[in-house]
Amino acid sequence: MKILVTGGAGFIGSHTLIELYKAGHEMVVVDNLCNAKEKSLERVSSLINGARIPFYKIDIRDREGLSSVMEKYKFDACIHFAGLKAVGESVAKPWEYYDNNISGTLVLLDVMRKHGCKNIIFSSSATVYGDPAQIPITEACPKGRCTNPYGKTKSMLEDIMIDMQVADPEWNIVLLRYFNPIGAHPSGLIGENPNGIPNNLMPYITQVAVGKRPELGVFGNDYNTHDGTGVRDYIHVVDLANGHVCALKAIERNCGLAIYNLGTGHGYSVLDIVNAFERVNGVKIPYQIKPRRAGDIATCYSDPAKAEKELGWKAQFGIDEMCRDSWNWQRNNPNGYED
Ligand code: NAD
Ligand code: WQD
Repeated sequence: MKILVTGGAGFIGSHTLIELYKAGHEMVVVDNLCNAKEKSLERVSSLINGARIPFYKIDIRDREGLSSVMEKYKFDACIHFAGLKAVGESVAKPWEYYDNNISGTLVLLDVMRKHGCKNIIFSSSATVYGDPAQIPITEACPKGRCTNPYGKTKSMLEDIMIDMQVADPEWNIVLLRYFNPIGAHPSGLIGENPNGIPNNLMPYITQVAVGKRPELGVFGNDYNTHDGTGVRDYIHVVDLANGHVCALKAIERNCGLAIYNLGTGHGYSVLDIVNAFERVNGVKIPYQIKPRRAGDIATCYSDPAKAEKELGWKAQFGIDEMCRDSWNWQRNNPNGYED
C-alpha cells in the first residue's frame, strides 16, 4: 500500500517506517519537526538498505501543503502519529494542544476525504479509559474521564472519527490505543528523544543511567499495587510498530470502525521496571520516593486478545528486551539525535 505517515520522524513513527518497509509498503512522511529531528529519518534509511522515504516538512494544519502531497501520491491509507503528547505541557497550554491535535486532525481528515483516501490508522492511547472501570482493560471497557487536555484530545478525536465513519461508511478507521511504549530499535540507531526533562518513566531512568540526572523520583509508593508503586503495561516500540502493519489488514478487509488495544497484557510497577533495568543492564538507578503525581492512576494494563484474534498481532518482546534496548539507544546516543 502507499501510505502517508504523519509524524513519521517521531519516536513511534520512525520505528513503524522500518516495519512498513519490511512488509513491502511504500511510505511518505509529513512532519513539522516540532518534536523530532530529520536525522531520525536518515537513520531509518540506513536501517532499510539506504532506501529513501520521501519527507515533507509540513504542519498538518497546513491545508495547501497537505493537499499538494496528497495530490502527488494518491495514498491508499494514512497512519496518523502527528500530535503533541506531553501531559503536563497540555495542562499549561491547552489551546496549543487542542489546536495542534484537534484542528490538525480535522484538516488532515478533510484533505484525505477530498482526495478520496478514506483509510486511517490513528494513534490513540490507553489514557482514554481514564481510571479504568476494569483490569485488564478490554476495548469494551467504557471510556473514562481524562484529567488533562492531551488525553481529552485523544478521546475527542476518537469520537470525531467514529461520527465521521457513521456518516460515511466508506471510511475505514482503526483506533489503536497504545499502552506504554518504551524500548528502541535493537540497532541502537533510533529511539525516543525527549526535549528537556522527560515526563515518562523509561526516558527518565535512562537519563539517570547515563548520568544526566542524579536520581529517579518514584511518584508514590502508597497505591493499592503489589509494592505500592504505579503499575503499567509497557510495550516494546518495535512490537507497537508491527501492530500498525497488522492494522493495515483490517483496512484491507474494509473494517469500517475497529478499535484495538496494543499492549502486552502484563503489568509492571515502577520498582519492577527499576529492578529489571538494573538486572538486565548492570547499571544502578538511584531513586527516591516522592509524592504521587497529580492525575496518575494506580493500575493500567490491557487485555490485548482482540488484536491477536482479529489482526494476528501479539507482542513478542518482554521487559528484559525493553530495558536492554532503551539503554542501548541512550548509551549510544546520550544526547539523542543532537551531535
Ligand atoms: P513524538 O512526539 O515522538 O512523535 C510525534 C511526531 O509528530 C513528532 O515527530 C512531531 O514533530 C510531529 N508533529 C506534532 N505535531 C505536528 C503537526 N501539527 N504537524 C506535523 N507534525 C507534527 O511522539 P510519539 O511518542 O512517537 O507518539 C506518536 C503518537 O502516538 C502521538 O499522537 C502520541 O500522542 C501517540 N501516543 C504516544 C504514546 C507514548 O507514550 N509515546 C502513548 C499513546 C499514544
Ligand atoms: C509510568 C509510571 C508514574 C516518571 C503517560 C500518558 C499516557 C501515554 C503514556 C502518551 C507511573 C511513574 C513516571 C517518573 C515515576 N502518553 N513515574 N517517575 O503516566 O502511565 O502514561 O505516557 O500518549 O497518555 O499519561 O506513563 O511513563 O509517565 O509513568 O515514578 O519520573 O511511572 O507515576 O506510575 P503514564 P509514565
